[in-house]
Amino acid sequence: MVIGIDIGSTTTKVAAMNGGTDIIKMKTRAVDAITSATGAFGKLLVENHLNLSSIERINITGVGAPKIPGNLFGITTNRIDEMTAIGTGGRYLAKKDRIIISNIGTGTAILEVDNGRITHLGGTGVGGGTIIGLAREMLNTSDFDTIMSYAAMGNVRNVDLHIGDIAESNIGFLNKEYTASNFGKVVETATKEDLAAGILNLTFQVIGMVSVFAAKSKNNDTVVVTGNGSNNVIGQKILASISKMYNIHFEFPADAEYATAIGAAKS
Ligand SMILES: Nc1ncnc2c1ncn2[C@@H]1O[C@H](COP(=O)(O)OP(=O)(O)OP(=O)(O)O)[C@@H](O)[C@H]1O
Ligand SMILES: [Mg+2]
Repeated sequence: MVIGIDIGSTTTKVAAMNGGTDIIKMKTRAVDAITSATGAFGKLLVENHLNLSSIERINITGVGAPKIPGNLFGITTNRIDEMTAIGTGGRYLAKKDRIIISNIGTGTAILEVDNGRITHLGGTGVGGGTIIGLAREMLNTSDFDTIMSYAAMGNVRNVDLHIGDIAESNIGFLNKEYTASNFGKVVETATKEDLAAGILNLTFQVIGMVSVFAAKSKNNDTVVVTGNGSNNVIGQKILASISKMYNIHFEFPADAEYATAIGAAKS
């Protein structure tokens, strides 16, 4: 069995791959790199009744990987380049060989996978960390579930300026319902629910558009979304509406938050 450990800026993910297909996974919040990596790894072993002796090797990746010295628990421990891990994991989960990957973690990385070739195209600092940081300042909470429940009840019309607010009719292909300016119209009566909805809209619209431009520049129409941002239900809806406008398909594979850990285990 090979263990992939992805020590991200916010959370640490562990995936155990048995025979190349069977995935066992575990997630934890990062306290420090060593504690979160060994903690998540230990929990995965204990909860799945696995023996240390059944582990062939450990492949670690993510921003925290360089903080782990030597071999963990005497098991051969390799360092895997994070972009290689994201690309390998995204391709495996998508079951497709030609894709654009938008990895929404604390920030967002965008990659092209063209069969075996993985290219880091760039990205944006707008990501999951943006949601938490803006919420802390604007809503006095950084609890993710609270932010999501506020956002589900909010109305972006009280926060965002829409094409219809400034123009009588559609502008080119832009429908009156589309955003002209994120946070461009925060009404005085905007509630914390409205602001939370605006924060999610800002984050996922920026990520969606950067992904669209990346896909178009590579003549690709499939963006596979990985990272913790992949299973954000409000984010998925925002990306789905961008999908319709630009004819780019966003896919959200199961276990996408483990894509980097899975890719490390498969590298
Ligand atoms: N329960 C949760 N606790 C904290 N963050 C959560 C939670 N659920 C979702 N998130 C979101 O996930 C984001 C982190 O995503 P992820 O774990 O993929 O990033 P990372 O791998 O740690 O970071 P990076 O890849 O950018 O180094 C947070 O910023 C937050 O927006
Ligand atoms: Mg990550």
